[in-house]
Amino acid sequence: MRSLVSRGDCRRGGALLSAPGPLGDPAMPNRPRPLVAGNWKMNGLRRSLRVLGEIEQGYTPGLKAKADLLLCPPATLVLTAAHVLVGSGIAVGGQDCHAKEAGAFTGDVSAEMLADAGATFAIVGHSERRQYHGEKDAEVCAKAAAAHRAGLAAIVCVGETQGEREAGRTLNVVRRQLRGSIPEASCPANLVVAYEPVWAIGTGLTPTAADVAEVHALIRDELRRIVGKAEAASVRILYGGSVKPSNAKELLAVENVDGALVGGASLVAADFLGIAGAYLV
Ligand code: 13P
Repeated sequence: MRSLVSRGDCRRGGALLSAPGPLGDPAMPNRPRPLVAGNWKMNGLRRSLRVLGEIEQGYTPGLKAKADLLLCPPATLVLTAAHVLVGSGIAVGGQDCHAKEAGAFTGDVSAEMLADAGATFAIVGHSERRQYHGEKDAEVCAKAAAAHRAGLAAIVCVGETQGEREAGRTLNVVRRQLRGSIPEASCPANLVVAYEPVWAIGTGLTPTAADVAEVHALIRDELRRIVGKAEAASVRILYGGSVKPSNAKELLAVENVDGALVGGASLVAADFLGIAGAYLV
């Protein structure tokens, strides 16, 4: 069997959890194993962790056979979440990380700190970081490289604004973000790409299946240039933006959609499980 971890940096972090490509569903040998990830954003107190227990309960052997699950709570809860979920097969991730390992950066959290707390993934370049913290592609790339340095898999987010879509610039914007935000030495075990159209986040709006297919095909194509032809097929590309149990089946069935990055609906166990349950057919 072909090794999925052909580069040094790819032996760590998400490699242990994710088993894309040949280790995915034998019925779909060319598709990576799906990943359904929850991004809690700035939501969640200690009492919210009972949701994790409920999600663990619903992560039945049948679902486990079909998809990986990941929860990204706020930084204050990463350590406890990792304890709660130990042995569950559900991974824990951070929502952001600093590019540096340590230092005088008040309020920031390093990738090493996330890894030390039990995380195996870090979201980087989320549109809310790009929008509210002015993060540009180069910084996102440095953060993704930091995640790799710490042994985490990086979930690199890309996506166009409403204005960019209306101006017909979606593909150009996503291409530019991909080329600028993905570090060298990325591979299927340490890289996940999330396509999140900014206008679809938290709005209840979603692109058509055809629009999602077009952007995900472009991402797959770009990945061939970035990580190489053979590896590109195994990198998971998630769709994010108003994913709900009611639309998950349609969105997750789109070609080159290998899972979802879920915001609001990941705060409710039944909704998150309802989305992941789209893979149970
Ligand atoms: P919603 O699912 O709430 O639209 O958020 C999507 C998102 O931004 C996940 O990172």
